Amino acid sequence: MTSARTQVAIVGAGPAGLLLGALLAKAGVASVIVEQRDPDYVLGRIRAGVLEQVTVDLLDAAGAGARMHAEGLPHHGIELCFGGARHRIDLHGLTGGKQVMVYGQTEVTRDLMQLRAATGLPTVYEAEQVGVHGFDGDRPKVSYRKGGQTHELHCDFIAGCDGYHGVSRQSVPEGVLKTFERVYPFGWLGVLSETPPVSHELIYSNHERGFALCSMRSATRSRYYVQCSADDRAERWSDAAFWDELRLRLDRAAAESLVTGPSIEKSIAPLRSFVAEPMRFGRLFLAGDAAHIVPPTGAKGLNLAAGDVGLLSRALAEHYVEHSDAGIDGYSERCLRRVWRAERFSWWFTSLMHKFPETGDFGQKMQTAELDYLVHSQAASTALAENYVGLPL
Ligand code: APR
Ligand code: PHB
Repeated sequence: MTSARTQVAIVGAGPAGLLLGALLAKAGVASVIVEQRDPDYVLGRIRAGVLEQVTVDLLDAAGAGARMHAEGLPHHGIELCFGGARHRIDLHGLTGGKQVMVYGQTEVTRDLMQLRAATGLPTVYEAEQVGVHGFDGDRPKVSYRKGGQTHELHCDFIAGCDGYHGVSRQSVPEGVLKTFERVYPFGWLGVLSETPPVSHELIYSNHERGFALCSMRSATRSRYYVQCSADDRAERWSDAAFWDELRLRLDRAAAESLVTGPSIEKSIAPLRSFVAEPMRFGRLFLAGDAAHIVPPTGAKGLNLAAGDVGLLSRALAEHYVEHSDAGIDGYSERCLRRVWRAERFSWWFTSLMHKFPETGDFGQKMQTAELDYLVHSQAASTALAENYVGLPL
């Protein structure tokens, strides 16, 4: 057995863990990340790609923003498509000049990984049987197996950034956490293709056949989704069937100008809303998907994770530098307030845009009437815009 020590042990090298490590390093706080998979596996996960200004600012503060500014696409609006026509929501105009940055989560993760490697900060990949212990007292530790040996990492705090299926949340004693969950009765079938995006802005489409989304990764790479049934399988969809279904759910101009090509990736994601409260138990902090999941409509997942670790890094820096635990003590409550507001927005936007088993003709009329109100009322458009660009941290 080997034994090592650090100030903050971070479990999970997804965007939450990596960003936390980078922000802590800037504040002079030492961390070790323990991740169960290898780097290529972590980079192989394809997720949403819309960054709020708060996330952009945190990546800049971490020193990981250079490529994002060079290659990311600032967006000033989104389009809502329903009843055969598209309507623009002027995010920039309605929010007093705010915007979002379209830059894939894979690229964010790659930039953070490279920064961590370049600055020589320790990350243990392919750690097996990761366990978190002692966080209800003042001598927490993380244990894992690697290279045929057991390793113990002693620390002051553990940050559980290990996603929805991770070990951190599951290690909190029974009865302490309260969880809230909603599983939606459909999934998203997503396709990535080396084709120019159909429009220079994202299109969210409500259609009686189901929801569709036109997104992008760059001027030459597109990401498209269509709502599918929860038990569908990606292998059942040929590329041609996917493009046909997408075209049917778009307005005529978009359908006609859609450039199709072979899919580089095709997968189905389930949709779920989930929150675990509180986000702190003793010296264990939960952040990102370990504590909450949002359905992807509105792309809040990564932004919430970034907000959590922004607050957590500040709280931990306060502990070490200013010897104050105010930030630590307020962490859970401050995060959860923001989390619930993003949960509400994601749930609302999902409910408005998708076909549910119970939607029927009446439900479709209600959705169309709400969308009609939304795009023609400045008050309603502003509410959408300010949530889409992100609420303040
Ligand atoms: N031990 C160590 N690492 C683990 C363990 C474990 N027991 N379980 C999971 N992990 C790792 C996973 O392999 C993954 O690399 O933790 C990481 C968690 O990363 P994510 O799932 O990407 O979660 P997070 O960093 O919170 O990022 C949130 O990801 O799911 C999206 O929409 C979400 O965009 C948001 C972002
Ligand atoms: C994406 O580009 O993958 C994406 C964009 C916006 C969303 C969800 C996903 O709301």
